[in-house]
Amino acid sequence: MSDSVIPIHEVVQERYGAIATSGGSCCAPGSCDCATNAQLYDPAMLTELPPEVVGLSLGCGDPITIAGLQPGEWVVDLGSGGGIDCFLAAQRVGDAGYVIGIDMTPAMLAKANASKVRMGANNVEFRRGQIEAMPVVSDSVDVVMSNCVINLSPDKSAVFAEAFRVLKPGGRISVSDIVTEGEFSAELRADAARWAECVTGAIDVSEYTAKMAAAGFTDITVVDKTDAEAVVERQPGMPRLYSARITARKPA
Ligand SMILES: C[S@@+](CC[C@H](N)C(=O)[O-])C[C@H]1O[C@@H](n2cnc3c(N)ncnc32)[C@H](O)[C@@H]1O
Repeated sequence: MSDSVIPIHEVVQERYGAIATSGGSCCAPGSCDCATNAQLYDPAMLTELPPEVVGLSLGCGDPITIAGLQPGEWVVDLGSGGGIDCFLAAQRVGDAGYVIGIDMTPAMLAKANASKVRMGANNVEFRRGQIEAMPVVSDSVDVVMSNCVINLSPDKSAVFAEAFRVLKPGGRISVSDIVTEGEFSAELRADAARWAECVTGAIDVSEYTAKMAAAGFTDITVVDKTDAEAVVERQPGMPRLYSARITARKPA
């Protein structure tokens, strides 16, 4: 499935632009419920974040806790949205570290930048770009993370190749994402609206990890995998949907 078949980037950008400009009241019924999303994190992690950041949480898990971020590290967040994981990462890497959020949706970047200014978060930067061609220098960051975004990409192999490129040797990737067990039919795959809701773009977890391995990642670990029906609505005929947390490493 690629943009030449369905303009996935356009449909996805339209959806997340609308969410960002709707005042932060996130999601359509049956997908990405805000209250559920805030509960993805240990509440103690969120106490220093403003409500507009927590209220625009659109992830499907907590990639921060498994990333093991250290003071001074450089981090890239793929599909940073309203910035929740960037701000959490910024707290952990401190002033000696740096966090770059990449997102292709201007309205989402505007929300994230407004929060950055209000919070005085000087070690965070939001860049406009597609995660299939990241505006980040090669071999430059310690950690790539992402929360409920790679499933939205029409070219997941390109995303993993780019993640591998920007990581320093020995760097690590930590993602939370929607995956399946089994395949969508071609007909369901062609449902771009549901793709943009983090459903029909998801791929089987073994295909997901195989794409990571093909990009060069090692030590690929599915840390946990829980039923995703609390965050995305599954219809009859669809494969089982999971929210998985996956880590891997670029060889040193
Ligand atoms: C489901 S939201 C998740 C946002 C954020 N990670 C969070 O946890 O709240 C998906 C975000 O990824 C962005 N996005 C989706 N596909 C993208 C792509 N191919 N390149 C860049 N950004 C993308 C969207 O604009 C949106 O802000």
